[in-house]
Amino acid sequence: MRKNIIAGNWKMNSSSEEGRSLVKGVLDGIHELKKTTVIFSPPFLYLKEIKDVINNRENVSISAQNMSQQENGAFTGEVSHSMLKDIGCDYVILGHSERRQYYGETNEIVNEKVLKALANNIKPILCVGETFEEYEAGKTLSVIKEQVTKGLNSVSEGDMSSVVLAYEPVWAIGTGKTSTPENADNVHGEIRKIVESLYNSSVSNSLQILYGGSVKASNSESLLAMENIDGALVGGASLKVDEFVGIIKSSEQ
Ligand code: PGA
Repeated sequence: MRKNIIAGNWKMNSSSEEGRSLVKGVLDGIHELKKTTVIFSPPFLYLKEIKDVINNRENVSISAQNMSQQENGAFTGEVSHSMLKDIGCDYVILGHSERRQYYGETNEIVNEKVLKALANNIKPILCVGETFEEYEAGKTLSVIKEQVTKGLNSVSEGDMSSVVLAYEPVWAIGTGKTSTPENADNVHGEIRKIVESLYNSSVSNSLQILYGGSVKASNSESLLAMENIDGALVGGASLKVDEFVGIIKSSEQ
């Protein structure tokens, strides 16, 4: 039985005070988590203080939004795996479409980051998803196949238990357009088949695959009810206490 993950990607939003009160509000709004891991992914600067606000609450973690593929050294502006580990960061979002689109992250760079994270016991949340043009051209599955296959290149079978995948159609991110639950579930099912062909059915059956793209409290229930959807990567709605709590509650149902 796969557990759900509800991860809030704050992107480049919120102040330190807003972040702390958001997390307090969310934690006050939820009870004991039985089926869900909740992850807060603030900007790097706030990771440590958000970790302190979480205060070891069970099934609640922090994630970085990115990480350098380098070990250490002269890489101005970058943050390394050991720095993330140092502050107790368990997860890192890698290959988000905004990183691919605005910062030129290729599948190869994303793969280097995935391997680096795994080698240092940080769980990667590997994001994949097609653009609107690719969607219109019927290329969704070929794009996803390439991103999944290249993103997981050289990842061992054993390490796959630490990998989380997130399917985020680029045309649904921040646009208010959501994939239908059926369409998302279908793509998630295809991702499972790709992973099965790369590894085996036990790896693909236990892989948590999150959906992302305009998820909110009002549509989360129908998305999370789908067999192959194991949680959500939430952007805009993760910045609002009521919305994020609503999404977590629909995951716990
Ligand atoms: P959104 O962002 O929920 O605002 O569409 C999702 C994401 O980019 O992870």
